[in-house]
Amino acid sequence: MDKIRIRGGRPLRGSIVIGGAKNAALPLMTASLLTDETLTLTNLPDLADIATLTNLLVQHGVGFDVVAGAQGHGGRVVALKAADIVSTTAPYDLVRKMRASVLVLGPLLARCGVAKVSLPGGCAIGTRPVDLHIKGLTQMGARIDLEGGYILASAPEGLRGADIVFPTVSVGATENLLMAATLAKGETVLANAAREPEVTDLARCLVAMGAEIEGIGTDTLRIRGKDRLHGAEHRIVSDRIETGTYLMAAAITGGEIELVHGDLDHLQSVGRTLSAAGIEFTPTERGFRAARTNGLHGVDAMTEPYPGFPTDLQAQMMALMSVADGASMITETIFENRFMHVPELMRMGARVTVHGASALVRGVPRLTGAPVMATDLRASVSLVLAGLAAQGETVVNRVYHLDRGYERLEEKLAACGADIERLKE
Ligand code: EPZ
Repeated sequence: MDKIRIRGGRPLRGSIVIGGAKNAALPLMTASLLTDETLTLTNLPDLADIATLTNLLVQHGVGFDVVAGAQGHGGRVVALKAADIVSTTAPYDLVRKMRASVLVLGPLLARCGVAKVSLPGGCAIGTRPVDLHIKGLTQMGARIDLEGGYILASAPEGLRGADIVFPTVSVGATENLLMAATLAKGETVLANAAREPEVTDLARCLVAMGAEIEGIGTDTLRIRGKDRLHGAEHRIVSDRIETGTYLMAAAITGGEIELVHGDLDHLQSVGRTLSAAGIEFTPTERGFRAARTNGLHGVDAMTEPYPGFPTDLQAQMMALMSVADGASMITETIFENRFMHVPELMRMGARVTVHGASALVRGVPRLTGAPVMATDLRASVSLVLAGLAAQGETVVNRVYHLDRGYERLEEKLAACGADIERLKE
């Protein structure tokens, strides 16, 4: 397993090109199952999770062609075509590698009237149930049984529109049911729907494919089902979590980085929080610049569904606050076990006390480098951020977690002056 070695203490300066959003690309790719025509996606990042989902879609019968490689400042252009669905089963050995595979459930059921999808199982950050996905599809007329670790779903007469109210905001359940509703008979209303930019990006692509959706960007989506959808071309929205991660790299090292294609509009809660901590943001022609000119102050953060502070930036924020002046209370309200970066940060000298869903961070003048263990995608990158600021050498183990969601991370950071390299095992 590869490792990443960092010698910290250098302020980062330069620019980083932000790629297409992983969490938009994944549902957009499953949307290709909804039509027998070609869906062309541009700005597709080259990530392990994208490769995993590609393998799953290909075994369903989706043709996946890279039309053009990475376009300089843009990701790859790919064409997906599900002319015929040759299998409606998503097998455990593929789904277990990436939970988002469950997003084939709604499209397969809508297109074919049947689907057998492995239950994704939990992961490091929580049990990650899919009860809201199942409940919504049942309301749309699907018959769903759970057997042998699989979801067995059927809707021989097709799905029908339903009024669905989510008891809690769920990105994946919103996306699965949104896709299913585009081919259901009649109208579906999704109330308390997720408003993440990745959900909005998916809705916009579905409209380009001929779907009829109202309320895009709000917490109530109204979908009038169609008999079929057609092909389209769609550019994937830039990755706000990658953007937030790298702007915190500038902040934690006391440097200044231009985030090319970064969109601060999708990070308003993060922008407000970090401005209060002493970070300055300046729009540029290609995106925006984040700089830390003076001190870094401890501020509180609580993760919430969009437009609140994203849970996917919680670990990175904790690394940043561990070297701030003063204290910070960081509260995780979305997942039940998303503090696994805490013991690793503490090995680097961070002072963190966890009480249930809240962590009190007392800032220290300096972290010290140490060998640390990555546990999940975002916890891994918080250790990289800590290593960039720490005195001495940090070696992050199990960086396959990083490769799931960050393309060429060490190259992008090295180009801004970081002393970082990948140690091939
Ligand atoms: C998406 O996961 C993202 N993944 C996650 O990013 C992100 O952290 C999460 O949304 C929250 O923003 C992708 O988009 C591929 P949820 P998802 O359904 O859809 C509970 C990353 O690092 N819940 O919004 O699985 C659930 O347990 C990943 O890129 C149910 O109870 O998240 C959680 O507590 C990590 N029942 C809360 O809702 C359900 O049926 C939010 O989960 C579904 C979810």
